Amino acid sequence: MYCTDGKDIMETGFAPSDVDTSRPHPARMYDYYLGGKNNYLVDRQAAAAVLRAAPEVRDIARANRAFLQRVVRYLVGEAGIRQIIDIGTGIPTAGNVHEVARHSAPDVRVVYVDNDPIVHVHANALLTGEGTTSIVLGDLRDPDAILAHPKVRELIDFDEPAALLLVAILHFIPDKAQPRRIVATFREALAPGSYLALSHGTGDFHDASVVAGASAVYEGATAPLVLRPHQQVSAYFGGWDLIEPGLVQAPLWRPDGKPPRPRELAKIGIYAGVGRKPGPAG
Ligand SMILES: C[S@@+](CC[C@H](N)C(=O)[O-])C[C@H]1O[C@@H](n2cnc3c(N)ncnc32)[C@H](O)[C@@H]1O
Repeated sequence: MYCTDGKDIMETGFAPSDVDTSRPHPARMYDYYLGGKNNYLVDRQAAAAVLRAAPEVRDIARANRAFLQRVVRYLVGEAGIRQIIDIGTGIPTAGNVHEVARHSAPDVRVVYVDNDPIVHVHANALLTGEGTTSIVLGDLRDPDAILAHPKVRELIDFDEPAALLLVAILHFIPDKAQPRRIVATFREALAPGSYLALSHGTGDFHDASVVAGASAVYEGATAPLVLRPHQQVSAYFGGWDLIEPGLVQAPLWRPDGKPPRPRELAKIGIYAGVGRKPGPAG
């Protein structure tokens, strides 16, 4: 059932006042694009307005989710990573990070971080009883608080390589919040051999009017949408070694099976890439 009031949240012990149902939330809009049911009328109305401006947003959301799963398989299965910090978790849906990771290695430790109380509630319910996975209610704009959080420190050993996932979140951080400084703080905290995997919405494949239409809807949401060009997204890696094929449209990042055809890529306005911190480990 779609959420229509705060009742389901009350049953999980979360105060309804913590959940803002008066404004659209990116996590719930994304859930709607992916066909999920954890969204409110206000989210569906905003998502419908975005889809009117850019109908391909649903394909972009799916392409992003598929990238997330491929990249976790790569990090755990090929790069040997055993600890993951996933900031901007989203409402749990099929193929969550810890589930995909455990397919390759059951001992992987995962800390989820999101600033949306709804995500927190759903993730907590999903993770009940797990000793190697936890969820922190935290904000990417305060990297020091995330890095110092006891639940993060409990599961993540910063002397060992880890993977930081910033998948479809940095485009919700406006320039005035200094996203480059935020990402640099995390890069510095991670050990050599660590990985940064990110995806980021871009207007590089759309007319300015479409970008303006979609961004305008998010002006009324709890976070704005800031689409950035390739060069600005690349800068988040701060000189780390980019893993092949570099920063590319999400479906082009190590596709399973046949690579997508140019026609399918025409309007997929989201970049994805992975960088590795230089150093001996990993
Ligand atoms: C589009 S979803 C992405 C979910 C998941 N990473 C994925 O790619 O499938 C973006 C998530 O980032 C979260 N988010 C947005 N701004 C945030 C912030 N400043 N701090 C922490 N989480 C944030 C939202 O609540 C939402 O759950």
